[in-house]
Amino acid sequence: MAAYDFERLIVDIPDYPEPGVVFKDITPLFADPEGFDAVVESIAARFADAGVTKVIGAEARGFMVGAPVAHRLGAGFVPARKPGKLPRETASESYALEYGTDSLEIHLDAISSDDVVLIVDDLVATGGTAVAQARLVERFGARLAGMGFLMELAFLDPRKAIAEATDAEVFSLV
Ligand code: PRP
Ligand code: ADE
Repeated sequence: MAAYDFERLIVDIPDYPEPGVVFKDITPLFADPEGFDAVVESIAARFADAGVTKVIGAEARGFMVGAPVAHRLGAGFVPARKPGKLPRETASESYALEYGTDSLEIHLDAISSDDVVLIVDDLVATGGTAVAQARLVERFGARLAGMGFLMELAFLDPRKAIAEATDAEVFSLV
């Protein structure tokens, strides 16, 4: 099968949300039925044999990719949410973003030590969001099967930050 041209439907928005940042707008790719399917199928295919039982996706764009990948793999989906959004007791990790800082929370009963977890997001930039999720997985005693992204901003060297936290496989489509 020919490689899908994901970049055709990803739009660069200069100086958003602040000067100096080139924002990668994935909404045209997700609005395209073939493009959406290619994203989900390509990430799921890479981890099809990894025995994944749970996929974690970070609010909000991580939900768009993570939930369908989880469904495709026959795994459960765990939302990692911004502070104060989950109604029950949570575990929390803070992280730095390309722009700003934030925290992510997941419910305490969302992951068990038997789980094999895949972290999925639309984009990895500094790696801060991915590392925060990897730390959460570690706190639950679960095994991290890998990380799957639609896009990797290689010039920010996220693999260095991720490698300092975990030796899990990092896979990006673009
Ligand atoms: C974006 C993106 C990733 C994260 C990557 O989310 O969806 O989750 O940034 O950046 P990092 O590798 O530097 O951590 P954002 O926090 O902007 O939230 P959103 O999905 O709600 O737009
Ligand atoms: N998240 C962090 N950096 C980003 C970027 N440049 N474009 C889109 N989402 C992002």
